[in-house]
Amino acid sequence: MSLNTRTCVLVIVATVFCVVPIAVDAQRRGGRGGPGGDRNPGDLELEKGPLAANEFEKNALSVLEYIAANQQFRNVPQHDGRLLRIMTQAMDAKHVVELGTSTGYSGIWFGLALKETGGKLTTYEIDAERAEIARTNFKRAGLDPQITLVQGDAHKEVGKIEGTIDLIFLDADKEGYIDYLNQLLPKLRKGGVIMAHNINPRMADPAFMRAITTDPNLETVVRGGMSITLKK
Ligand SMILES: C[S@@+](CC[C@H](N)C(=O)[O-])C[C@H]1O[C@@H](n2cnc3c(N)ncnc32)[C@H](O)[C@@H]1O
Repeated sequence: MSLNTRTCVLVIVATVFCVVPIAVDAQRRGGRGGPGGDRNPGDLELEKGPLAANEFEKNALSVLEYIAANQQFRNVPQHDGRLLRIMTQAMDAKHVVELGTSTGYSGIWFGLALKETGGKLTTYEIDAERAEIARTNFKRAGLDPQITLVQGDAHKEVGKIEGTIDLIFLDADKEGYIDYLNQLLPKLRKGGVIMAHNINPRMADPAFMRAITTDPNLETVVRGGMSITLKK
């Protein structure tokens, strides 16, 4: 074997044994390894990937996989998306409000649940490019009828929401969570839930944490970087 061939073989072996497992692991963790992407090894060992029950779901899951594999912008990890779906359908939510659409990854998880409950998602994105990509992704997943995307600054737009909300998902500007909470809490129904992403000691806004943990009318737990708050 010439030196060049041997170098080539070594590079291929290193790629297969080092790079591929890292990529597969990142994909299992939801397509990114950043904050909120790290999992308890025990959870990872026991959990299995999502299974499609029909052709519609199979297509939507393939769009989610595509987004995760071609990630240009931040999205929640897969296990958080699945949790959002479970909560939404279990609550029989009719109106979910999401702050921070990005390219629509979490929106598709919500959409899958809302297709079953007959509900709708209103989701806000300030960035025009991401909003456009999200619209395309919602269409490809067949979930555009369930989703209204509002492009603009959510701080200025959420005041226009009419009717009650069942679930609020905060995943936009972290320092803005307290303003979203103040604007939207009065519209959240009793028994409704606020879920907030990137709730860890480094990123959580103290004012928001105070608001959700010191109000006797709210019950809050934090798990794996996500706060879950019940309006009692
Ligand atoms: C972490 S990403 C959201 C990820 C998305 N929930 C998902 O999982 O696919 C946060 C998004 O919030 C958007 N954002 C930040 N500030 C905003 C604001 N004031 N109004 C609306 N969107 C905002 C950002 O442009 C960014 O795309």
